Amino acid sequence: MTEEVFTLRINGRTTRWTGDPLAPLADVLRDGLGLTGTKIGCRTGECGACTILLDGRPVMSCLLPVAAVQEMDIRTIEGLASDSRFEALADAMAACGGAQCGYCTPGIMVTLSAALQHPDWFADSGYEAALKNNLCRCTGYQAIREAIAQVQGGATSTAVAAPAGAGPAKEVASR
Ligand code: FES
Ligand code: FES
Repeated sequence: MTEEVFTLRINGRTTRWTGDPLAPLADVLRDGLGLTGTKIGCRTGECGACTILLDGRPVMSCLLPVAAVQEMDIRTIEGLASDSRFEALADAMAACGGAQCGYCTPGIMVTLSAALQHPDWFADSGYEAALKNNLCRCTGYQAIREAIAQVQGGATSTAVAAPAGAGPAKEVASR
């Protein structure tokens, strides 16, 4: 394996990492840099547990070789904690019981943070559509909906029916 040195901008700081150019960013974050808030589930782009923000957009870090993200702005859940919208979202998720096992929660929080910062992205489809790539195996969707509604200061959304039994929301299942 050829090792290379990479310069990465993570959570506003520049850091260097040495290793395989094809190493998935998720592994570099967790094992190389100790940012274990990013979770790994499927490693195949299906679950969204590994979601991070790349230049402000939610992406799955298990699919990204580290060589592809040099000089880009990488935000993990650790880097979002000081954002007031994120704080409000975290409070709402806690108040509504939006996490059960919690494994999907960082990815969901990262995606929702981006949606809250860029409501125009989801103006037509709504915040729930923003979560189409984030699966919750504990099926905590209703509580997550309630948390989103709480952050928005509105009523609980009913735009997507609760999934029957275990499994993802309908829009996710139909991908
Ligand atoms: S671990 Fe990346 S999408 Fe599941
Ligand atoms: S809370 Fe367990 S996977 Fe979502």
